[in-house]
Amino acid sequence: MNASSPDGPLISLSGVTRTYPVGGSHVHALDGVDLTVRAGEYLSIMGPSGSGKSTLLHVIGLLDRPDTGRYLLDGRDTGTLPDREQAALRLHHIGFVFQFFHLIPRLTAAENVALPLELAGVDAAGAAARVHQALAELGLEDRAGHRPDQLSGGQRQRVAIARATIMQPGILLADEPTGNLDRHSGAEVVELLEELNGRGIALLVVTHDPVIGERARRRIRVEDGTIVSDNGAGS
Ligand SMILES: Nc1ncnc2c1ncn2[C@@H]1O[C@H](COP(=O)(O)OP(=O)(O)O)[C@@H](O)[C@H]1O
Ligand SMILES: [Mg+2]
Repeated sequence: MNASSPDGPLISLSGVTRTYPVGGSHVHALDGVDLTVRAGEYLSIMGPSGSGKSTLLHVIGLLDRPDTGRYLLDGRDTGTLPDREQAALRLHHIGFVFQFFHLIPRLTAAENVALPLELAGVDAAGAAARVHQALAELGLEDRAGHRPDQLSGGQRQRVAIARATIMQPGILLADEPTGNLDRHSGAEVVELLEELNGRGIALLVVTHDPVIGERARRRIRVEDGTIVSDNGAGS
């Protein structure tokens, strides 16, 4: 990303809106969001259901585009990128972890983790070695051949985290990553995400759980599609 500068923000949103037409009217899912995130930061995003948290992560994760406003990713204006380039940027720079894992049911854990490498054109032997190492680091080496329905919730989320980080992205976005897990598995997943953050990945976690939300140094609150508090803005 040639527009990047070592001191510039990793993520910079200004005046971002996203409106969904519903029936005859519009839902303002994002209603003027300004947000700057630096490399390696750890943020939690909290707020009522329907306040726009998932939409915000989807925009940051290049899974959705703003209607108005600007999103610079590592200095690069994403609004001007064709879909293909946006997809390539996402593949190399962003990992996404979802509440319901979003693993491909008919693929094994190893095959799920290998998907981004295949998309990136990494050769099969190289991919297999990287997948093996990633699964081993997450304590899943003996589950490599299991399909998602043969794994516990916590194991599924760890596979999803391995898939999200196999390309070594600079940004990891997690939307209610513990929302479908028991307390113990949830705690393991949070520890894992924080360990990844400790190795330098920027971590943005949407959560309903204040105990998880308060672990992040920087905490953001979203209401009605805008950021109503941010204890780290401008720092
Ligand atoms: N695809 C969609 N079509 C229509 N409305 C949507 C869509 N996605 C989200 N919304 C609406 O946008 C608002 C914000 O949704 P969301 O970002 O999912 O909130 P949160 O994650 O905070 O619960 C909600 O009112 C929701 O109903
Ligand atoms: Mg949501």
